[in-house]
This record gives sequence, C-alpha cells and structure tokens, in this order.
Amino acid sequence: MDDRTVLKNTGLRGITVASTKISDVQGTKGKLIYRGYLVQDLAENTSFEEVIHLLLHERLPTSGELSALKDKLAGYRALPAAVIDALKTMPHTALPMDILQSGVSLLAHHDPDIRTVSRDASVEMGLRLIARFPTMLAAWERIRNGKDPIDPDPGLDQAANYLYMRTGEKPDTETARSFDIALVLHAEHSFNASTFSARQVASTRAHMYAAVSAAVGSLSGDLHGGANVRVMEMLLNIGDPDNVEAFVNRILDEGKLIMGLGHAVYKTDDPRAGIISEMSRKIGERIGETKWYEMSKLLEKKGKAAFKDRKGTDIFVNVDFYSASFYYGLGIPVDLFSPIFAISRVAGWAAHVIEEQYAEAAPKPMLYRPESEYVGEYCGPDECSFVAMDER
Ligand SMILES: CC(C)(COP(=O)(O)OP(=O)(O)OC[C@H]1O[C@@H](n2cnc3c(N)ncnc32)[C@H](O)[C@@H]1OP(=O)(O)O)[C@@H](O)C(=O)NCCC(=O)NCCS
Repeated sequence: MDDRTVLKNTGLRGITVASTKISDVQGTKGKLIYRGYLVQDLAENTSFEEVIHLLLHERLPTSGELSALKDKLAGYRALPAAVIDALKTMPHTALPMDILQSGVSLLAHHDPDIRTVSRDASVEMGLRLIARFPTMLAAWERIRNGKDPIDPDPGLDQAANYLYMRTGEKPDTETARSFDIALVLHAEHSFNASTFSARQVASTRAHMYAAVSAAVGSLSGDLHGGANVRVMEMLLNIGDPDNVEAFVNRILDEGKLIMGLGHAVYKTDDPRAGIISEMSRKIGERIGETKWYEMSKLLEKKGKAAFKDRKGTDIFVNVDFYSASFYYGLGIPVDLFSPIFAISRVAGWAAHVIEEQYAEAAPKPMLYRPESEYVGEYCGPDECSFVAMDER
C-alpha cells in the first residue's frame, strides 16, 4: 500500500497540552489524585458532594460549606417544566446519551447566568448541571417507560436522589452509600477524551453548557464511557462462567477487544477497579445474585492470562470492568450505564471548564488549535488546477 494513503493518528498520546491543578493520573504507579487526595481516601471518607466542592471550589468543604452546597444543589435539582415537556416529545427509542446531550442544550436556555461571563457564574452553571443530570436521567427512564417523572426529594443527596427518582422508593443506606462511592470514583480523570473535549470547547470562550454538551458526546463512545455498557453486554453474551475461557480465546483470536481491559494511561490495574469490584460483590450478595461478579472475576483472570500468552505483555483492568456488574446489581438498565458515568463526571468537566476559562494561564489563555499534516493530493509540485464540472 502506498504509505501516503495511510493516515497518521498520534491520538495525542504523551503530549502535554496544558497544566492543571485538578487531578493527576499516575499511570505506572496506578494512582489517581483529585486536588492532592488519593481517590481511594476520598472514596472511603467523603461523599460525592464533598468531592464536588473539592473539584469546583478547590478544597474540601467545612461542615457549614457542605450544608450550604447541599442546599444549593437541592434548590437546583428540579428540571424546568419546559425541559420535562420537551423530553416527553422524544422518541422512546432515543439513545440515552443523546437525550442527555440534548438535555444539556435545553437546560442552557433556562439558565439565568448563560450570558454572564464570570467565574462565579460558571460555578453556578456547573452546579446546576451537576444537580440536574441525575434528575434528567431518572426522568428520561420513567418517560420512556410511559411513567411520570418523580420530583427530587430535598432530604436526599445526589446519589440517593437518583435512585429514588428512578423508582419512587428510597434506597437503603448501604445501597445509597455504595452508589455515592461510585460517583466519587468516576468524578474526575484529568485530560481524558471527554474532559479534553470540554476544555477544547471552553478554550473558544464558549459557555459551560456548550462545553459539557461536547463532553457528553465524547463520553458516549465505546472506547470511553460506552465501555461499561459493552462490558455488561459481553457478560450477558457469555452467559455462564463455563463459557468464559472459550469466549476469551475467540475474541482474542479474532483480534477483538475484551471490554473493560486496557487503558490509555494506566500501566497497572486501575486504582478504582478494586473498590468497585468489592461493591459489585457486595451488591450481588445483597440481591442474592453473585453470578455477574463471579463471571467478571473469572473473565479478568482468563483475559489477562490469554492476553499475556498472545502478546507477551500485561493488560490491566479498568474502572468500567466491575462498574458494569455493580450497576446491573443496582437494577439499572444496561443502556443507562454510560449516562450514569456522566452524572458523576459532569463534576470534573465543570471544574475543568472553569479552570480553562478562569485560571491564570501563561503566556495567556490559548485556544486549542493543533497542527495537522496534509497528505492529500497536489497534482504536481503545486496545487491542482480547477476542473470545470463538465470536464470532470
Ligand atoms: C482503552 C484502550 C483504548 C487503550 O488503548 P491503548 O492503550 O492506546 O492501547 P492500544 O489500543 O494501542 O492497544 C495495544 C494492543 O493491545 C490490544 N488491546 C488493548 N486493549 C485490549 C482489550 N481490551 N482487549 C484485547 N486487546 C486489547 C490492542 O488491540 C493492541 O494490539 P495490537 O498491538 O496487536 O494492535 C484499549 O485498551 C481498549 O480499547 N480497551 C477496551 C475498551 C475499554 O475498556 N475502554 C474503557 C477505557 S477506561
């Protein structure tokens, strides 16, 4: 093949495009740090609301600041009636990530700060989006099933409210806390594809909603937020632990991917995977169905071994691998797994948009504008002579 026809794609790997104070992913050490704190510590000791404060306000909240933030989120959580009406007009077969992405644009029309250019206004817009993502997702699940949305309960936090608004039943403390931990674990991950999309859009001085809408689109892809859906589909497709080994061999022989394995940055197991694995085991035990957890464990073991046999290198488990069986255990429909990722990650996106827009940057805030290498036609040493329509 003429190598001029092969288009190069670096995927921007290894290129540092900007500095950030929000998070650090240390791929070889397997560490994820939000504003100085290890994600494992945050998962054990904080709530999602505390992490929202940490990400947007740059430090953990005092108890007074935490209650003020919870009050604010409670005040923002309900969707404008016009947005619910608009959701009711969408086809029930719509892809949930598309609903979320459309919903972000719809919410922009109702944000009183949409024309205000200030850090405070961006923070408020970010908080409104964070508060409303779970409401929108729960409302959409009910609407597509022909049911009326349930109003948020001001007494519940982000995690418990989402579970409540899906079904109308308040979750028990353990279930709500485990979902809260999942939100903490997914909230931030430096310059991943969706966050970079948000920052790239924010660098044009577009507003918070434009940036977050782009991020939702980016997260919808199979290689990013869509992977947790594909993991569950894979587990359902395997069906039984006895089929795991044959499945692994077939997938690798066909040059396909075992979803939930591999990562663009981690060169060891994802630090979040072990925590979610335990949550998957516990929810399985609580509902009396540990099959999906056990199958995941076996698939991880067989998948890693078979990959090493074939490629001679290790492959590691990522955050999506066990979040699939965890969400399944919570009774969440499989096609809502990626939007669930979004209701947490929107906190990280908002923090990055604010940093992109308002952090002091040297030499000055820059619009992202990489170079590309043109490998298309020139008809000679110079450009082609224009060919009139009837001569083509
Ligand atoms: C996440 C991902 C895109 C990272 O990619 P990457 O670090 O750039 O690694 P590459 O795509 O270059 O893969 C290197 C090799 O490992 C293989 N590989 C990577 N992940 C694999 C997986 N999950 N299953 C099987 N093979 C895999 C690739 O096919 C490639 O093989 P090759 O060298 O013969 O072409 C990739 O691992 C993947 O697609 N994983 C599955 C999807 C997933 O779980 N995504 C969620 C990420 S949080």
